[in-house]
Amino acid sequence: MSATTQPTNPEFIYTLRHVTEVAARAAYEWIGRGNKEEGDAAAVDAMRSALNQLPFQGTIVIGEGEKDEAPELYKGERLGNGGFEADIAVDPVEGTSYLAKGLTNAMATIAITPRGTMFDPGRAFYMEKFAAAPKAKGMIDMSWPVAQKLEVLAEVLGKRVADLTVYVLEKPRHRQLIEDIHAAGARVALYPAGDVAGALMAAIPNSGIDALMGTGGTPEGILSACAIRGLGGEFLGRINPQLPSETAAVKAAGIDTHRWYGLEELVGSQDVLFCATGITTGLLFDGVERRDDQYRVQTLMISGTTGERQILTSYLPVDGTA
Ligand code: FBP
Repeated sequence: MSATTQPTNPEFIYTLRHVTEVAARAAYEWIGRGNKEEGDAAAVDAMRSALNQLPFQGTIVIGEGEKDEAPELYKGERLGNGGFEADIAVDPVEGTSYLAKGLTNAMATIAITPRGTMFDPGRAFYMEKFAAAPKAKGMIDMSWPVAQKLEVLAEVLGKRVADLTVYVLEKPRHRQLIEDIHAAGARVALYPAGDVAGALMAAIPNSGIDALMGTGGTPEGILSACAIRGLGGEFLGRINPQLPSETAAVKAAGIDTHRWYGLEELVGSQDVLFCATGITTGLLFDGVERRDDQYRVQTLMISGTTGERQILTSYLPVDGTA
């Protein structure tokens, strides 16, 4: 079996969860202190050293940036203690502004797939995304107007359009999208940040969110795609540069910004493992709590091979290494 097709062991997810748990614990010290850089750096450090203790050989595909801009968890960095080869996507703190402001929905995330199966977006920072539950898979064409997308989504979900709630990041670039969703008759759940949570909620049936629409980070898009491949939901992504420097880099790399990538193109294997640990309490799980001599943490674990989704509550000794 070649390195590109070597499966990740589904049991490995119980080891992998330590990586997001230690990152969340490290970030916990920075909740509500107005300093997102230090909080992020603490989580990055903790995550990197935990990854280096794991019995696998991973390569960062989605990380903290290129080597010249990130000393740790940079794209191409090899991590692990030896073993099967994997691609890694990490976001040690998804929602750094939530962390700094002490608001809900900050989380530590990781996904791994067999080596060579994760989409590498290069220097494309922004991606337009669509996420929804398994019943929507393959049913919605991204060239349709918003109203038609929502009509078909309502039909496959067995709901009225009026009962649909679409998660959208509250950004000036989404003014028209929000108007279109309102005009179609659906509700909009507006959040200032954190579209991984929105994508996951959209892919989990009956979560209260029926779809994610709009443009957010490309790294967050790939992480969401990994989780949703495991959940069996729908995720589509289109590179949608927002910064002048990014536009030039995307053009130079020959990326077609009109093309919607399907889930199987973004994550080329069902053999995906995803973990997210709450830093602050959010839509999906509780954040870190310190109770006497223990930390209480909750981790969402998704395994593509078994199709299992699990939320694990762990109590970790304050002085332990988990
Ligand atoms: P950070 O953790 O880097 O703060 O990202 C949070 C986030 O809201 C993501 O969930 C989202 O994909 C991206 O930022 C959107 O970026 P921007 O705020 O620049 O529009």
